[in-house]
Amino acid sequence: MKTRLVREILVSEPDGRRVTIYGWVRTKRETKNLVFLQVNDGSCFASIQVTLDRDKGIAPELEATLKRISTGASVQATGLLVPSPASGQAVEVQADSVVLLGEAPVDTYPLQKKNHSLEFLREIAHLRPRTNTFGAVARMRSQMSYAVHTFFQERGFNYVHTPIITASDCEGAGEMFQVTTLDLDRLAKSGKDVDFSQDFFGKPANLTVSGQLEAETYATAVTRVYTFGPTFRAENSNTTRHLAEFWMIEPETAFCDIADNMDLAEEFVKYLLSWALEKCADDMKFFDERIQKGLIDTLTAVVNSDFARVTYTDAMEDLLKNADSFEFKPYWGCDLQSEHERYLTETVHKRPVIVTDYPKEIKAFYMKQNPDGKTVRAMDVLVPGLGELIGGSEREEDLAKLETRIKELGLDVKDYWWYLDLRRFGTVPHSGFGLGFERLLLYVTGMGNIRDVIPYPRAPKLAEF
Ligand code: 4AD
Ligand code: MG
Repeated sequence: MKTRLVREILVSEPDGRRVTIYGWVRTKRETKNLVFLQVNDGSCFASIQVTLDRDKGIAPELEATLKRISTGASVQATGLLVPSPASGQAVEVQADSVVLLGEAPVDTYPLQKKNHSLEFLREIAHLRPRTNTFGAVARMRSQMSYAVHTFFQERGFNYVHTPIITASDCEGAGEMFQVTTLDLDRLAKSGKDVDFSQDFFGKPANLTVSGQLEAETYATAVTRVYTFGPTFRAENSNTTRHLAEFWMIEPETAFCDIADNMDLAEEFVKYLLSWALEKCADDMKFFDERIQKGLIDTLTAVVNSDFARVTYTDAMEDLLKNADSFEFKPYWGCDLQSEHERYLTETVHKRPVIVTDYPKEIKAFYMKQNPDGKTVRAMDVLVPGLGELIGGSEREEDLAKLETRIKELGLDVKDYWWYLDLRRFGTVPHSGFGLGFERLLLYVTGMGNIRDVIPYPRAPKLAEF
């Protein structure tokens, strides 16, 4: 690239060499003889200061240009890179040329200097990456993606691209977005029944809720795989932790039981947090100071902790002892609500908790059944402040048991013929889990709403941009 990023220039020797910087003006400040521009290109948290000195002479055309520069304008500035007398920055550009690439009129540009609320910024999601908070979140998302791939590639996992459009419902919860090319309007007016054989795929199809089933087909061939892609759920939950479109990381490992799976999940979470703390120090400092006080200490403690591991039944005992304090009264067999999850992590264990062996009724059909006939080898990783970060399990590898469970749940065995083949031919113990990428980002950034850690959130009645 022939242009240089602000983050490279900020760490260069201020040896008076000529440099050119590009970016968007965050602030313009003037004294009688000096003009200061804070220019940010989003390559790092900091802006670079560009100064112009009227005592050294500013040409009338440049003065005219400076007048038109305001917050949000894009500029190209050239000058000498010198030590900065201002505190908090090592270098600045003593500019003799500033080119105004694009104006941002003060009366119409929505991002003026003042602090805007996150709610307001959600309305202008196309401009919010230009703020400190959303720039930091964007870099964090990118870094965490890089960390995810590095973690698995270092451990011999193959990245598998599972389909986005599928005809199966992995979680069996029926929360799918249908994909069709049928003319719904005409069909409704015709009064006829829908004939899916006339649809694009010749049968009903939907957006995937999870890549797990297809990932299993590759794990039972190349042993260690992971997926990392968008998943879609048409659940009507308007919460700060749910999206209709979210990214999920799903490792799947052959010859791996639930204990190995828990170890992998714990190692993975700690690896991601360490990466954030070590490689994203400037952005993490901002989150720690401005978004969630004490975040760095909290995450450091998690990296150094051992996650608690308890069975659902034991966890339920703890919850029942405190049943009165919950809005939703817990009972054996109920799905854990987020207030329960938070009680376990924040009050009982004060660290992340892996809950295992859930009642089979509240978990998906594919989980390995325990000999007690009541529970399955599920494992959810719950973290303080957030609740469920990871859901996973050992998989049922026994053909007969799996078939029986599919039927019990009213699903059609025929739809799962290829999945069942994995148990018919060379079946092996195997396990995997799914980590919600946006939940992870909430956790590492301390942001409070999942809609603020994905560029363009999709939720009920929300598909702008
Ligand atoms: O617990 P879930 O539903 O598990 C699965 O989908 C399995 N097939 C994973 C596997 O074993 N391969 O979802 C996994 C994780 C959750 O723990 C949560 O972090 C996230 O995905 N998640 C969501 N994140 C944002 N919005 C939603 N609506 C989410 N639903 C699940
Ligand atoms: Mg789950």
